Amino acid sequence: MYEGDIASVLITEQQIDEKVTELAKQVADDYPADRSDLVLVGVLKGAVMFMTDLARALPIPVQLEFMAVSSYGSATSSSGVVRILKDLDRDIAGRNVLIVEDIIDSGLTLSWLLKNLESRNPASLEVCTLLRKPDAVKVDVPVKYVGFEIPNEFVVGYGLDYAERYRDLPYIGTLDPKVYSS
Ligand code: PRP
Ligand code: MN
Ligand code: MG
Repeated sequence: MYEGDIASVLITEQQIDEKVTELAKQVADDYPADRSDLVLVGVLKGAVMFMTDLARALPIPVQLEFMAVSSYGSATSSSGVVRILKDLDRDIAGRNVLIVEDIIDSGLTLSWLLKNLESRNPASLEVCTLLRKPDAVKVDVPVKYVGFEIPNEFVVGYGLDYAERYRDLPYIGTLDPKVYSS
């Protein structure tokens, strides 16, 4: 699939699988099941694959919510100004909330999201991301669960897109520069 577009496989399907299991264990340890169900907030669309795999790997009951946001400004980098395209369906006041992201790059999307959700008074608010890029450290966002620290390369697959393509790849790969230079 996508013959010739992927320069290299950065994280294999099996590595993703093992990491999801590991993260699910960490999360489950931190949220005893005797409290009210944990609310997972997935950020559309990138987090979809990770969100559904994580939910199934967690041995505690969770509820699924989604948000869709879009950042104003340049298409290639986040501006930090975010617009809500789809909001949560339910109130999260008093709930334990875990934001689920596929990747933190500049950290601007997450920084905005944390402020926005915090203002709704959840009992707790944490972040679980599968991938984190080096630039994310410049923005001070507390991220409790990180799957992989990756280099500053353009990656696609397992939810991550380039121009809406490659989300359906089961692994994470680097995109051949010829794809975005043509
Ligand atoms: C990507 C990714 C994160 C965000 C990270 O989403 O899925 O949500 O960018 O970037 P940042 O840390 O620099 O803010 P995108 O806006 O491309 O939407 P998508 O999830 O629908 O692909
Ligand atoms: Mn996204
Ligand atoms: Mg995208």
